[in-house]
Amino acid sequence: MSSAPRIRRATSEDWDAVWPLLHGMGKVAGPEDAARQRFGRILRSHDHYLVVAVYDNVVVGYGWAQDYGAHLRTGDRTARLHDLFVRPERRGCGIGAAIFRAVREWARQEGVRYLEWQASLSAVPFYERLGYTGDPCPQPEYPYFEIDFAIESPSGISVLRDTTSDTSTPAASSKRAARSQAMPR
Ligand SMILES: CC(C)(COP(=O)(O)OP(=O)(O)OC[C@H]1O[C@@H](n2cnc3c(N)ncnc32)[C@H](O)[C@@H]1OP(=O)(O)O)[C@@H](O)C(=O)NCCC(=O)NCCS
Repeated sequence: MSSAPRIRRATSEDWDAVWPLLHGMGKVAGPEDAARQRFGRILRSHDHYLVVAVYDNVVVGYGWAQDYGAHLRTGDRTARLHDLFVRPERRGCGIGAAIFRAVREWARQEGVRYLEWQASLSAVPFYERLGYTGDPCPQPEYPYFEIDFAIESPSGISVLRDTTSDTSTPAASSKRAARSQAMPR
């Protein structure tokens, strides 16, 4: 019998279930033991939020976000959603949306001002369904999304702005660099 997905923080016991999901999400570097150690460090860090989705008592997806901390002058904190993945056979059941809502709520409660992420084109309709429009930016196959909690509307849909050019950390860095040039806002 199916149940509603349950989103909870990952624990070290989830490793065997999470490991194949990482490969579904994208490239995994190095041996499994090294990845497991990274997983453990992330679980122990207060700057990270790593959740799993449990559906019919099985881990079927995960989400991972990181609080990058406060801007030196403005104090505004930025978090990045790195990964959001649902096993293919469980897609379309609301699990991805539930993970995303958990991440968004974590960021809000942490007092983060900006939650940013980039998505492949195949995931863009999912985010649009949730009410978010990406910015095509100079690398159009990986649109950039951002929630500014300071201006988010009651519906949860925020005004989007700014651009970056990559899915990797350097892109986020370039955006933060652009922010750092700006006057405090
Ligand atoms: C993107 C992803 C997480 C969506 O997970 P999911 O569990 O299928 O999403 P949900 O079932 O919660 O979908 C929420 C809504 O978006 C819609 N949606 C999801 N994927 C969609 C797609 N590719 N095209 C159109 N609509 C889509 C759903 O139909 C649903 O709409 P509804 O509210 O009208 O029912 C999943 O497809 C996935 O893991 N993709 C591979 C990894 C990836 O691209 N991650 C995102 C990168 S950050």
